[in-house]
Amino acid sequence: MRATARAQPNIALVKYWGKRDVSRNLPAVGSLSITLDSLWTEMSVEFSPSLEADELSVNGESLPAWLPRVAACLDGVAGEGRQRARIESRYNFPAEAGLASSASAFAALVVAASAAAEVDATTEDLARIAGRASGSAARSLYDGYVELTPRANDISVETIAAADDWPLMVVAAVTGEAPKAVSSTEAMLRSANTSPFYERWVDEQGADLDVARDAVRHRDFAALADVSEHNCLKMHSVTWTSRPPIAYWNQATVACMARVRELRAGGEAVFFTIDAGPQVKAVCLPESAATVEEQLGSVPGVLRMLRSGLGAGARLRD
Ligand code: DP6
Repeated sequence: MRATARAQPNIALVKYWGKRDVSRNLPAVGSLSITLDSLWTEMSVEFSPSLEADELSVNGESLPAWLPRVAACLDGVAGEGRQRARIESRYNFPAEAGLASSASAFAALVVAASAAAEVDATTEDLARIAGRASGSAARSLYDGYVELTPRANDISVETIAAADDWPLMVVAAVTGEAPKAVSSTEAMLRSANTSPFYERWVDEQGADLDVARDAVRHRDFAALADVSEHNCLKMHSVTWTSRPPIAYWNQATVACMARVRELRAGGEAVFFTIDAGPQVKAVCLPESAATVEEQLGSVPGVLRMLRSGLGAGARLRD
């Protein structure tokens, strides 16, 4: 049987950075994210007895490099004795450039695969399987404001507020479209092994999550802005102080951060966050979105702008 699912990327405001258990890909810290709506990945999965090997295409082109991770994820959903599968993936945004393409990809994959294999699994079961492929993917199964909590041997994930409860906007300034030099997986390991700030990062995460969760509960934009920028800068301080250092920013990234702060000083409700890439995601109230988009779009080095509201978790298309 064939099934297609769609999922959107999510942007972490309190970030997952570091692994407690590498073999099971368990995160060292909890995280809190927002699921987007207008950027998406679609995954079609078809299990077939006539296939001898799994096949993967992305936007119409064969992509064997991703196959081992995709195949392991399919094993997680349908069991290792499963039939081989044809997997077709489509994106409407640049993959591998710090816009969380692996999160939407694995979230859509587990939903499509469970339907195609007729497996009866809960959203949390699927989130755990997606999280083993890519930690952030577990959050893209859920809509709106999502908190991921590490447990003894697993994770739990839940929506703490729906997208409609507080419809923030995300305006992303794309400042580089090349694949990242150091993958987040590798960068997390290097951070844990070499940054003198890593332990402190892990220790403080619970306090940041408490502040962010409360800010979401009370729709307190200023508090969410403050803790999100602080958490982002701590994550990047860990990467910069790893050996060898991992620098995801370029000049336009830094210029966009400054522009966001100027806009906020001028009264716009906006803050930035940055993941394992050079893009700057400006999170704002809807009334500030047009100004933020225009202002970041005019920063030298910004290649293009993307805008999205908040949206639903991964779901079937047909
Ligand atoms: C900076 O989920 O890509 O976006 O589990 O190794 O695949 P792996 O890592 P991944 O890391 C995401 C890191 C981040 C922060 C976040 O999304 O929380």
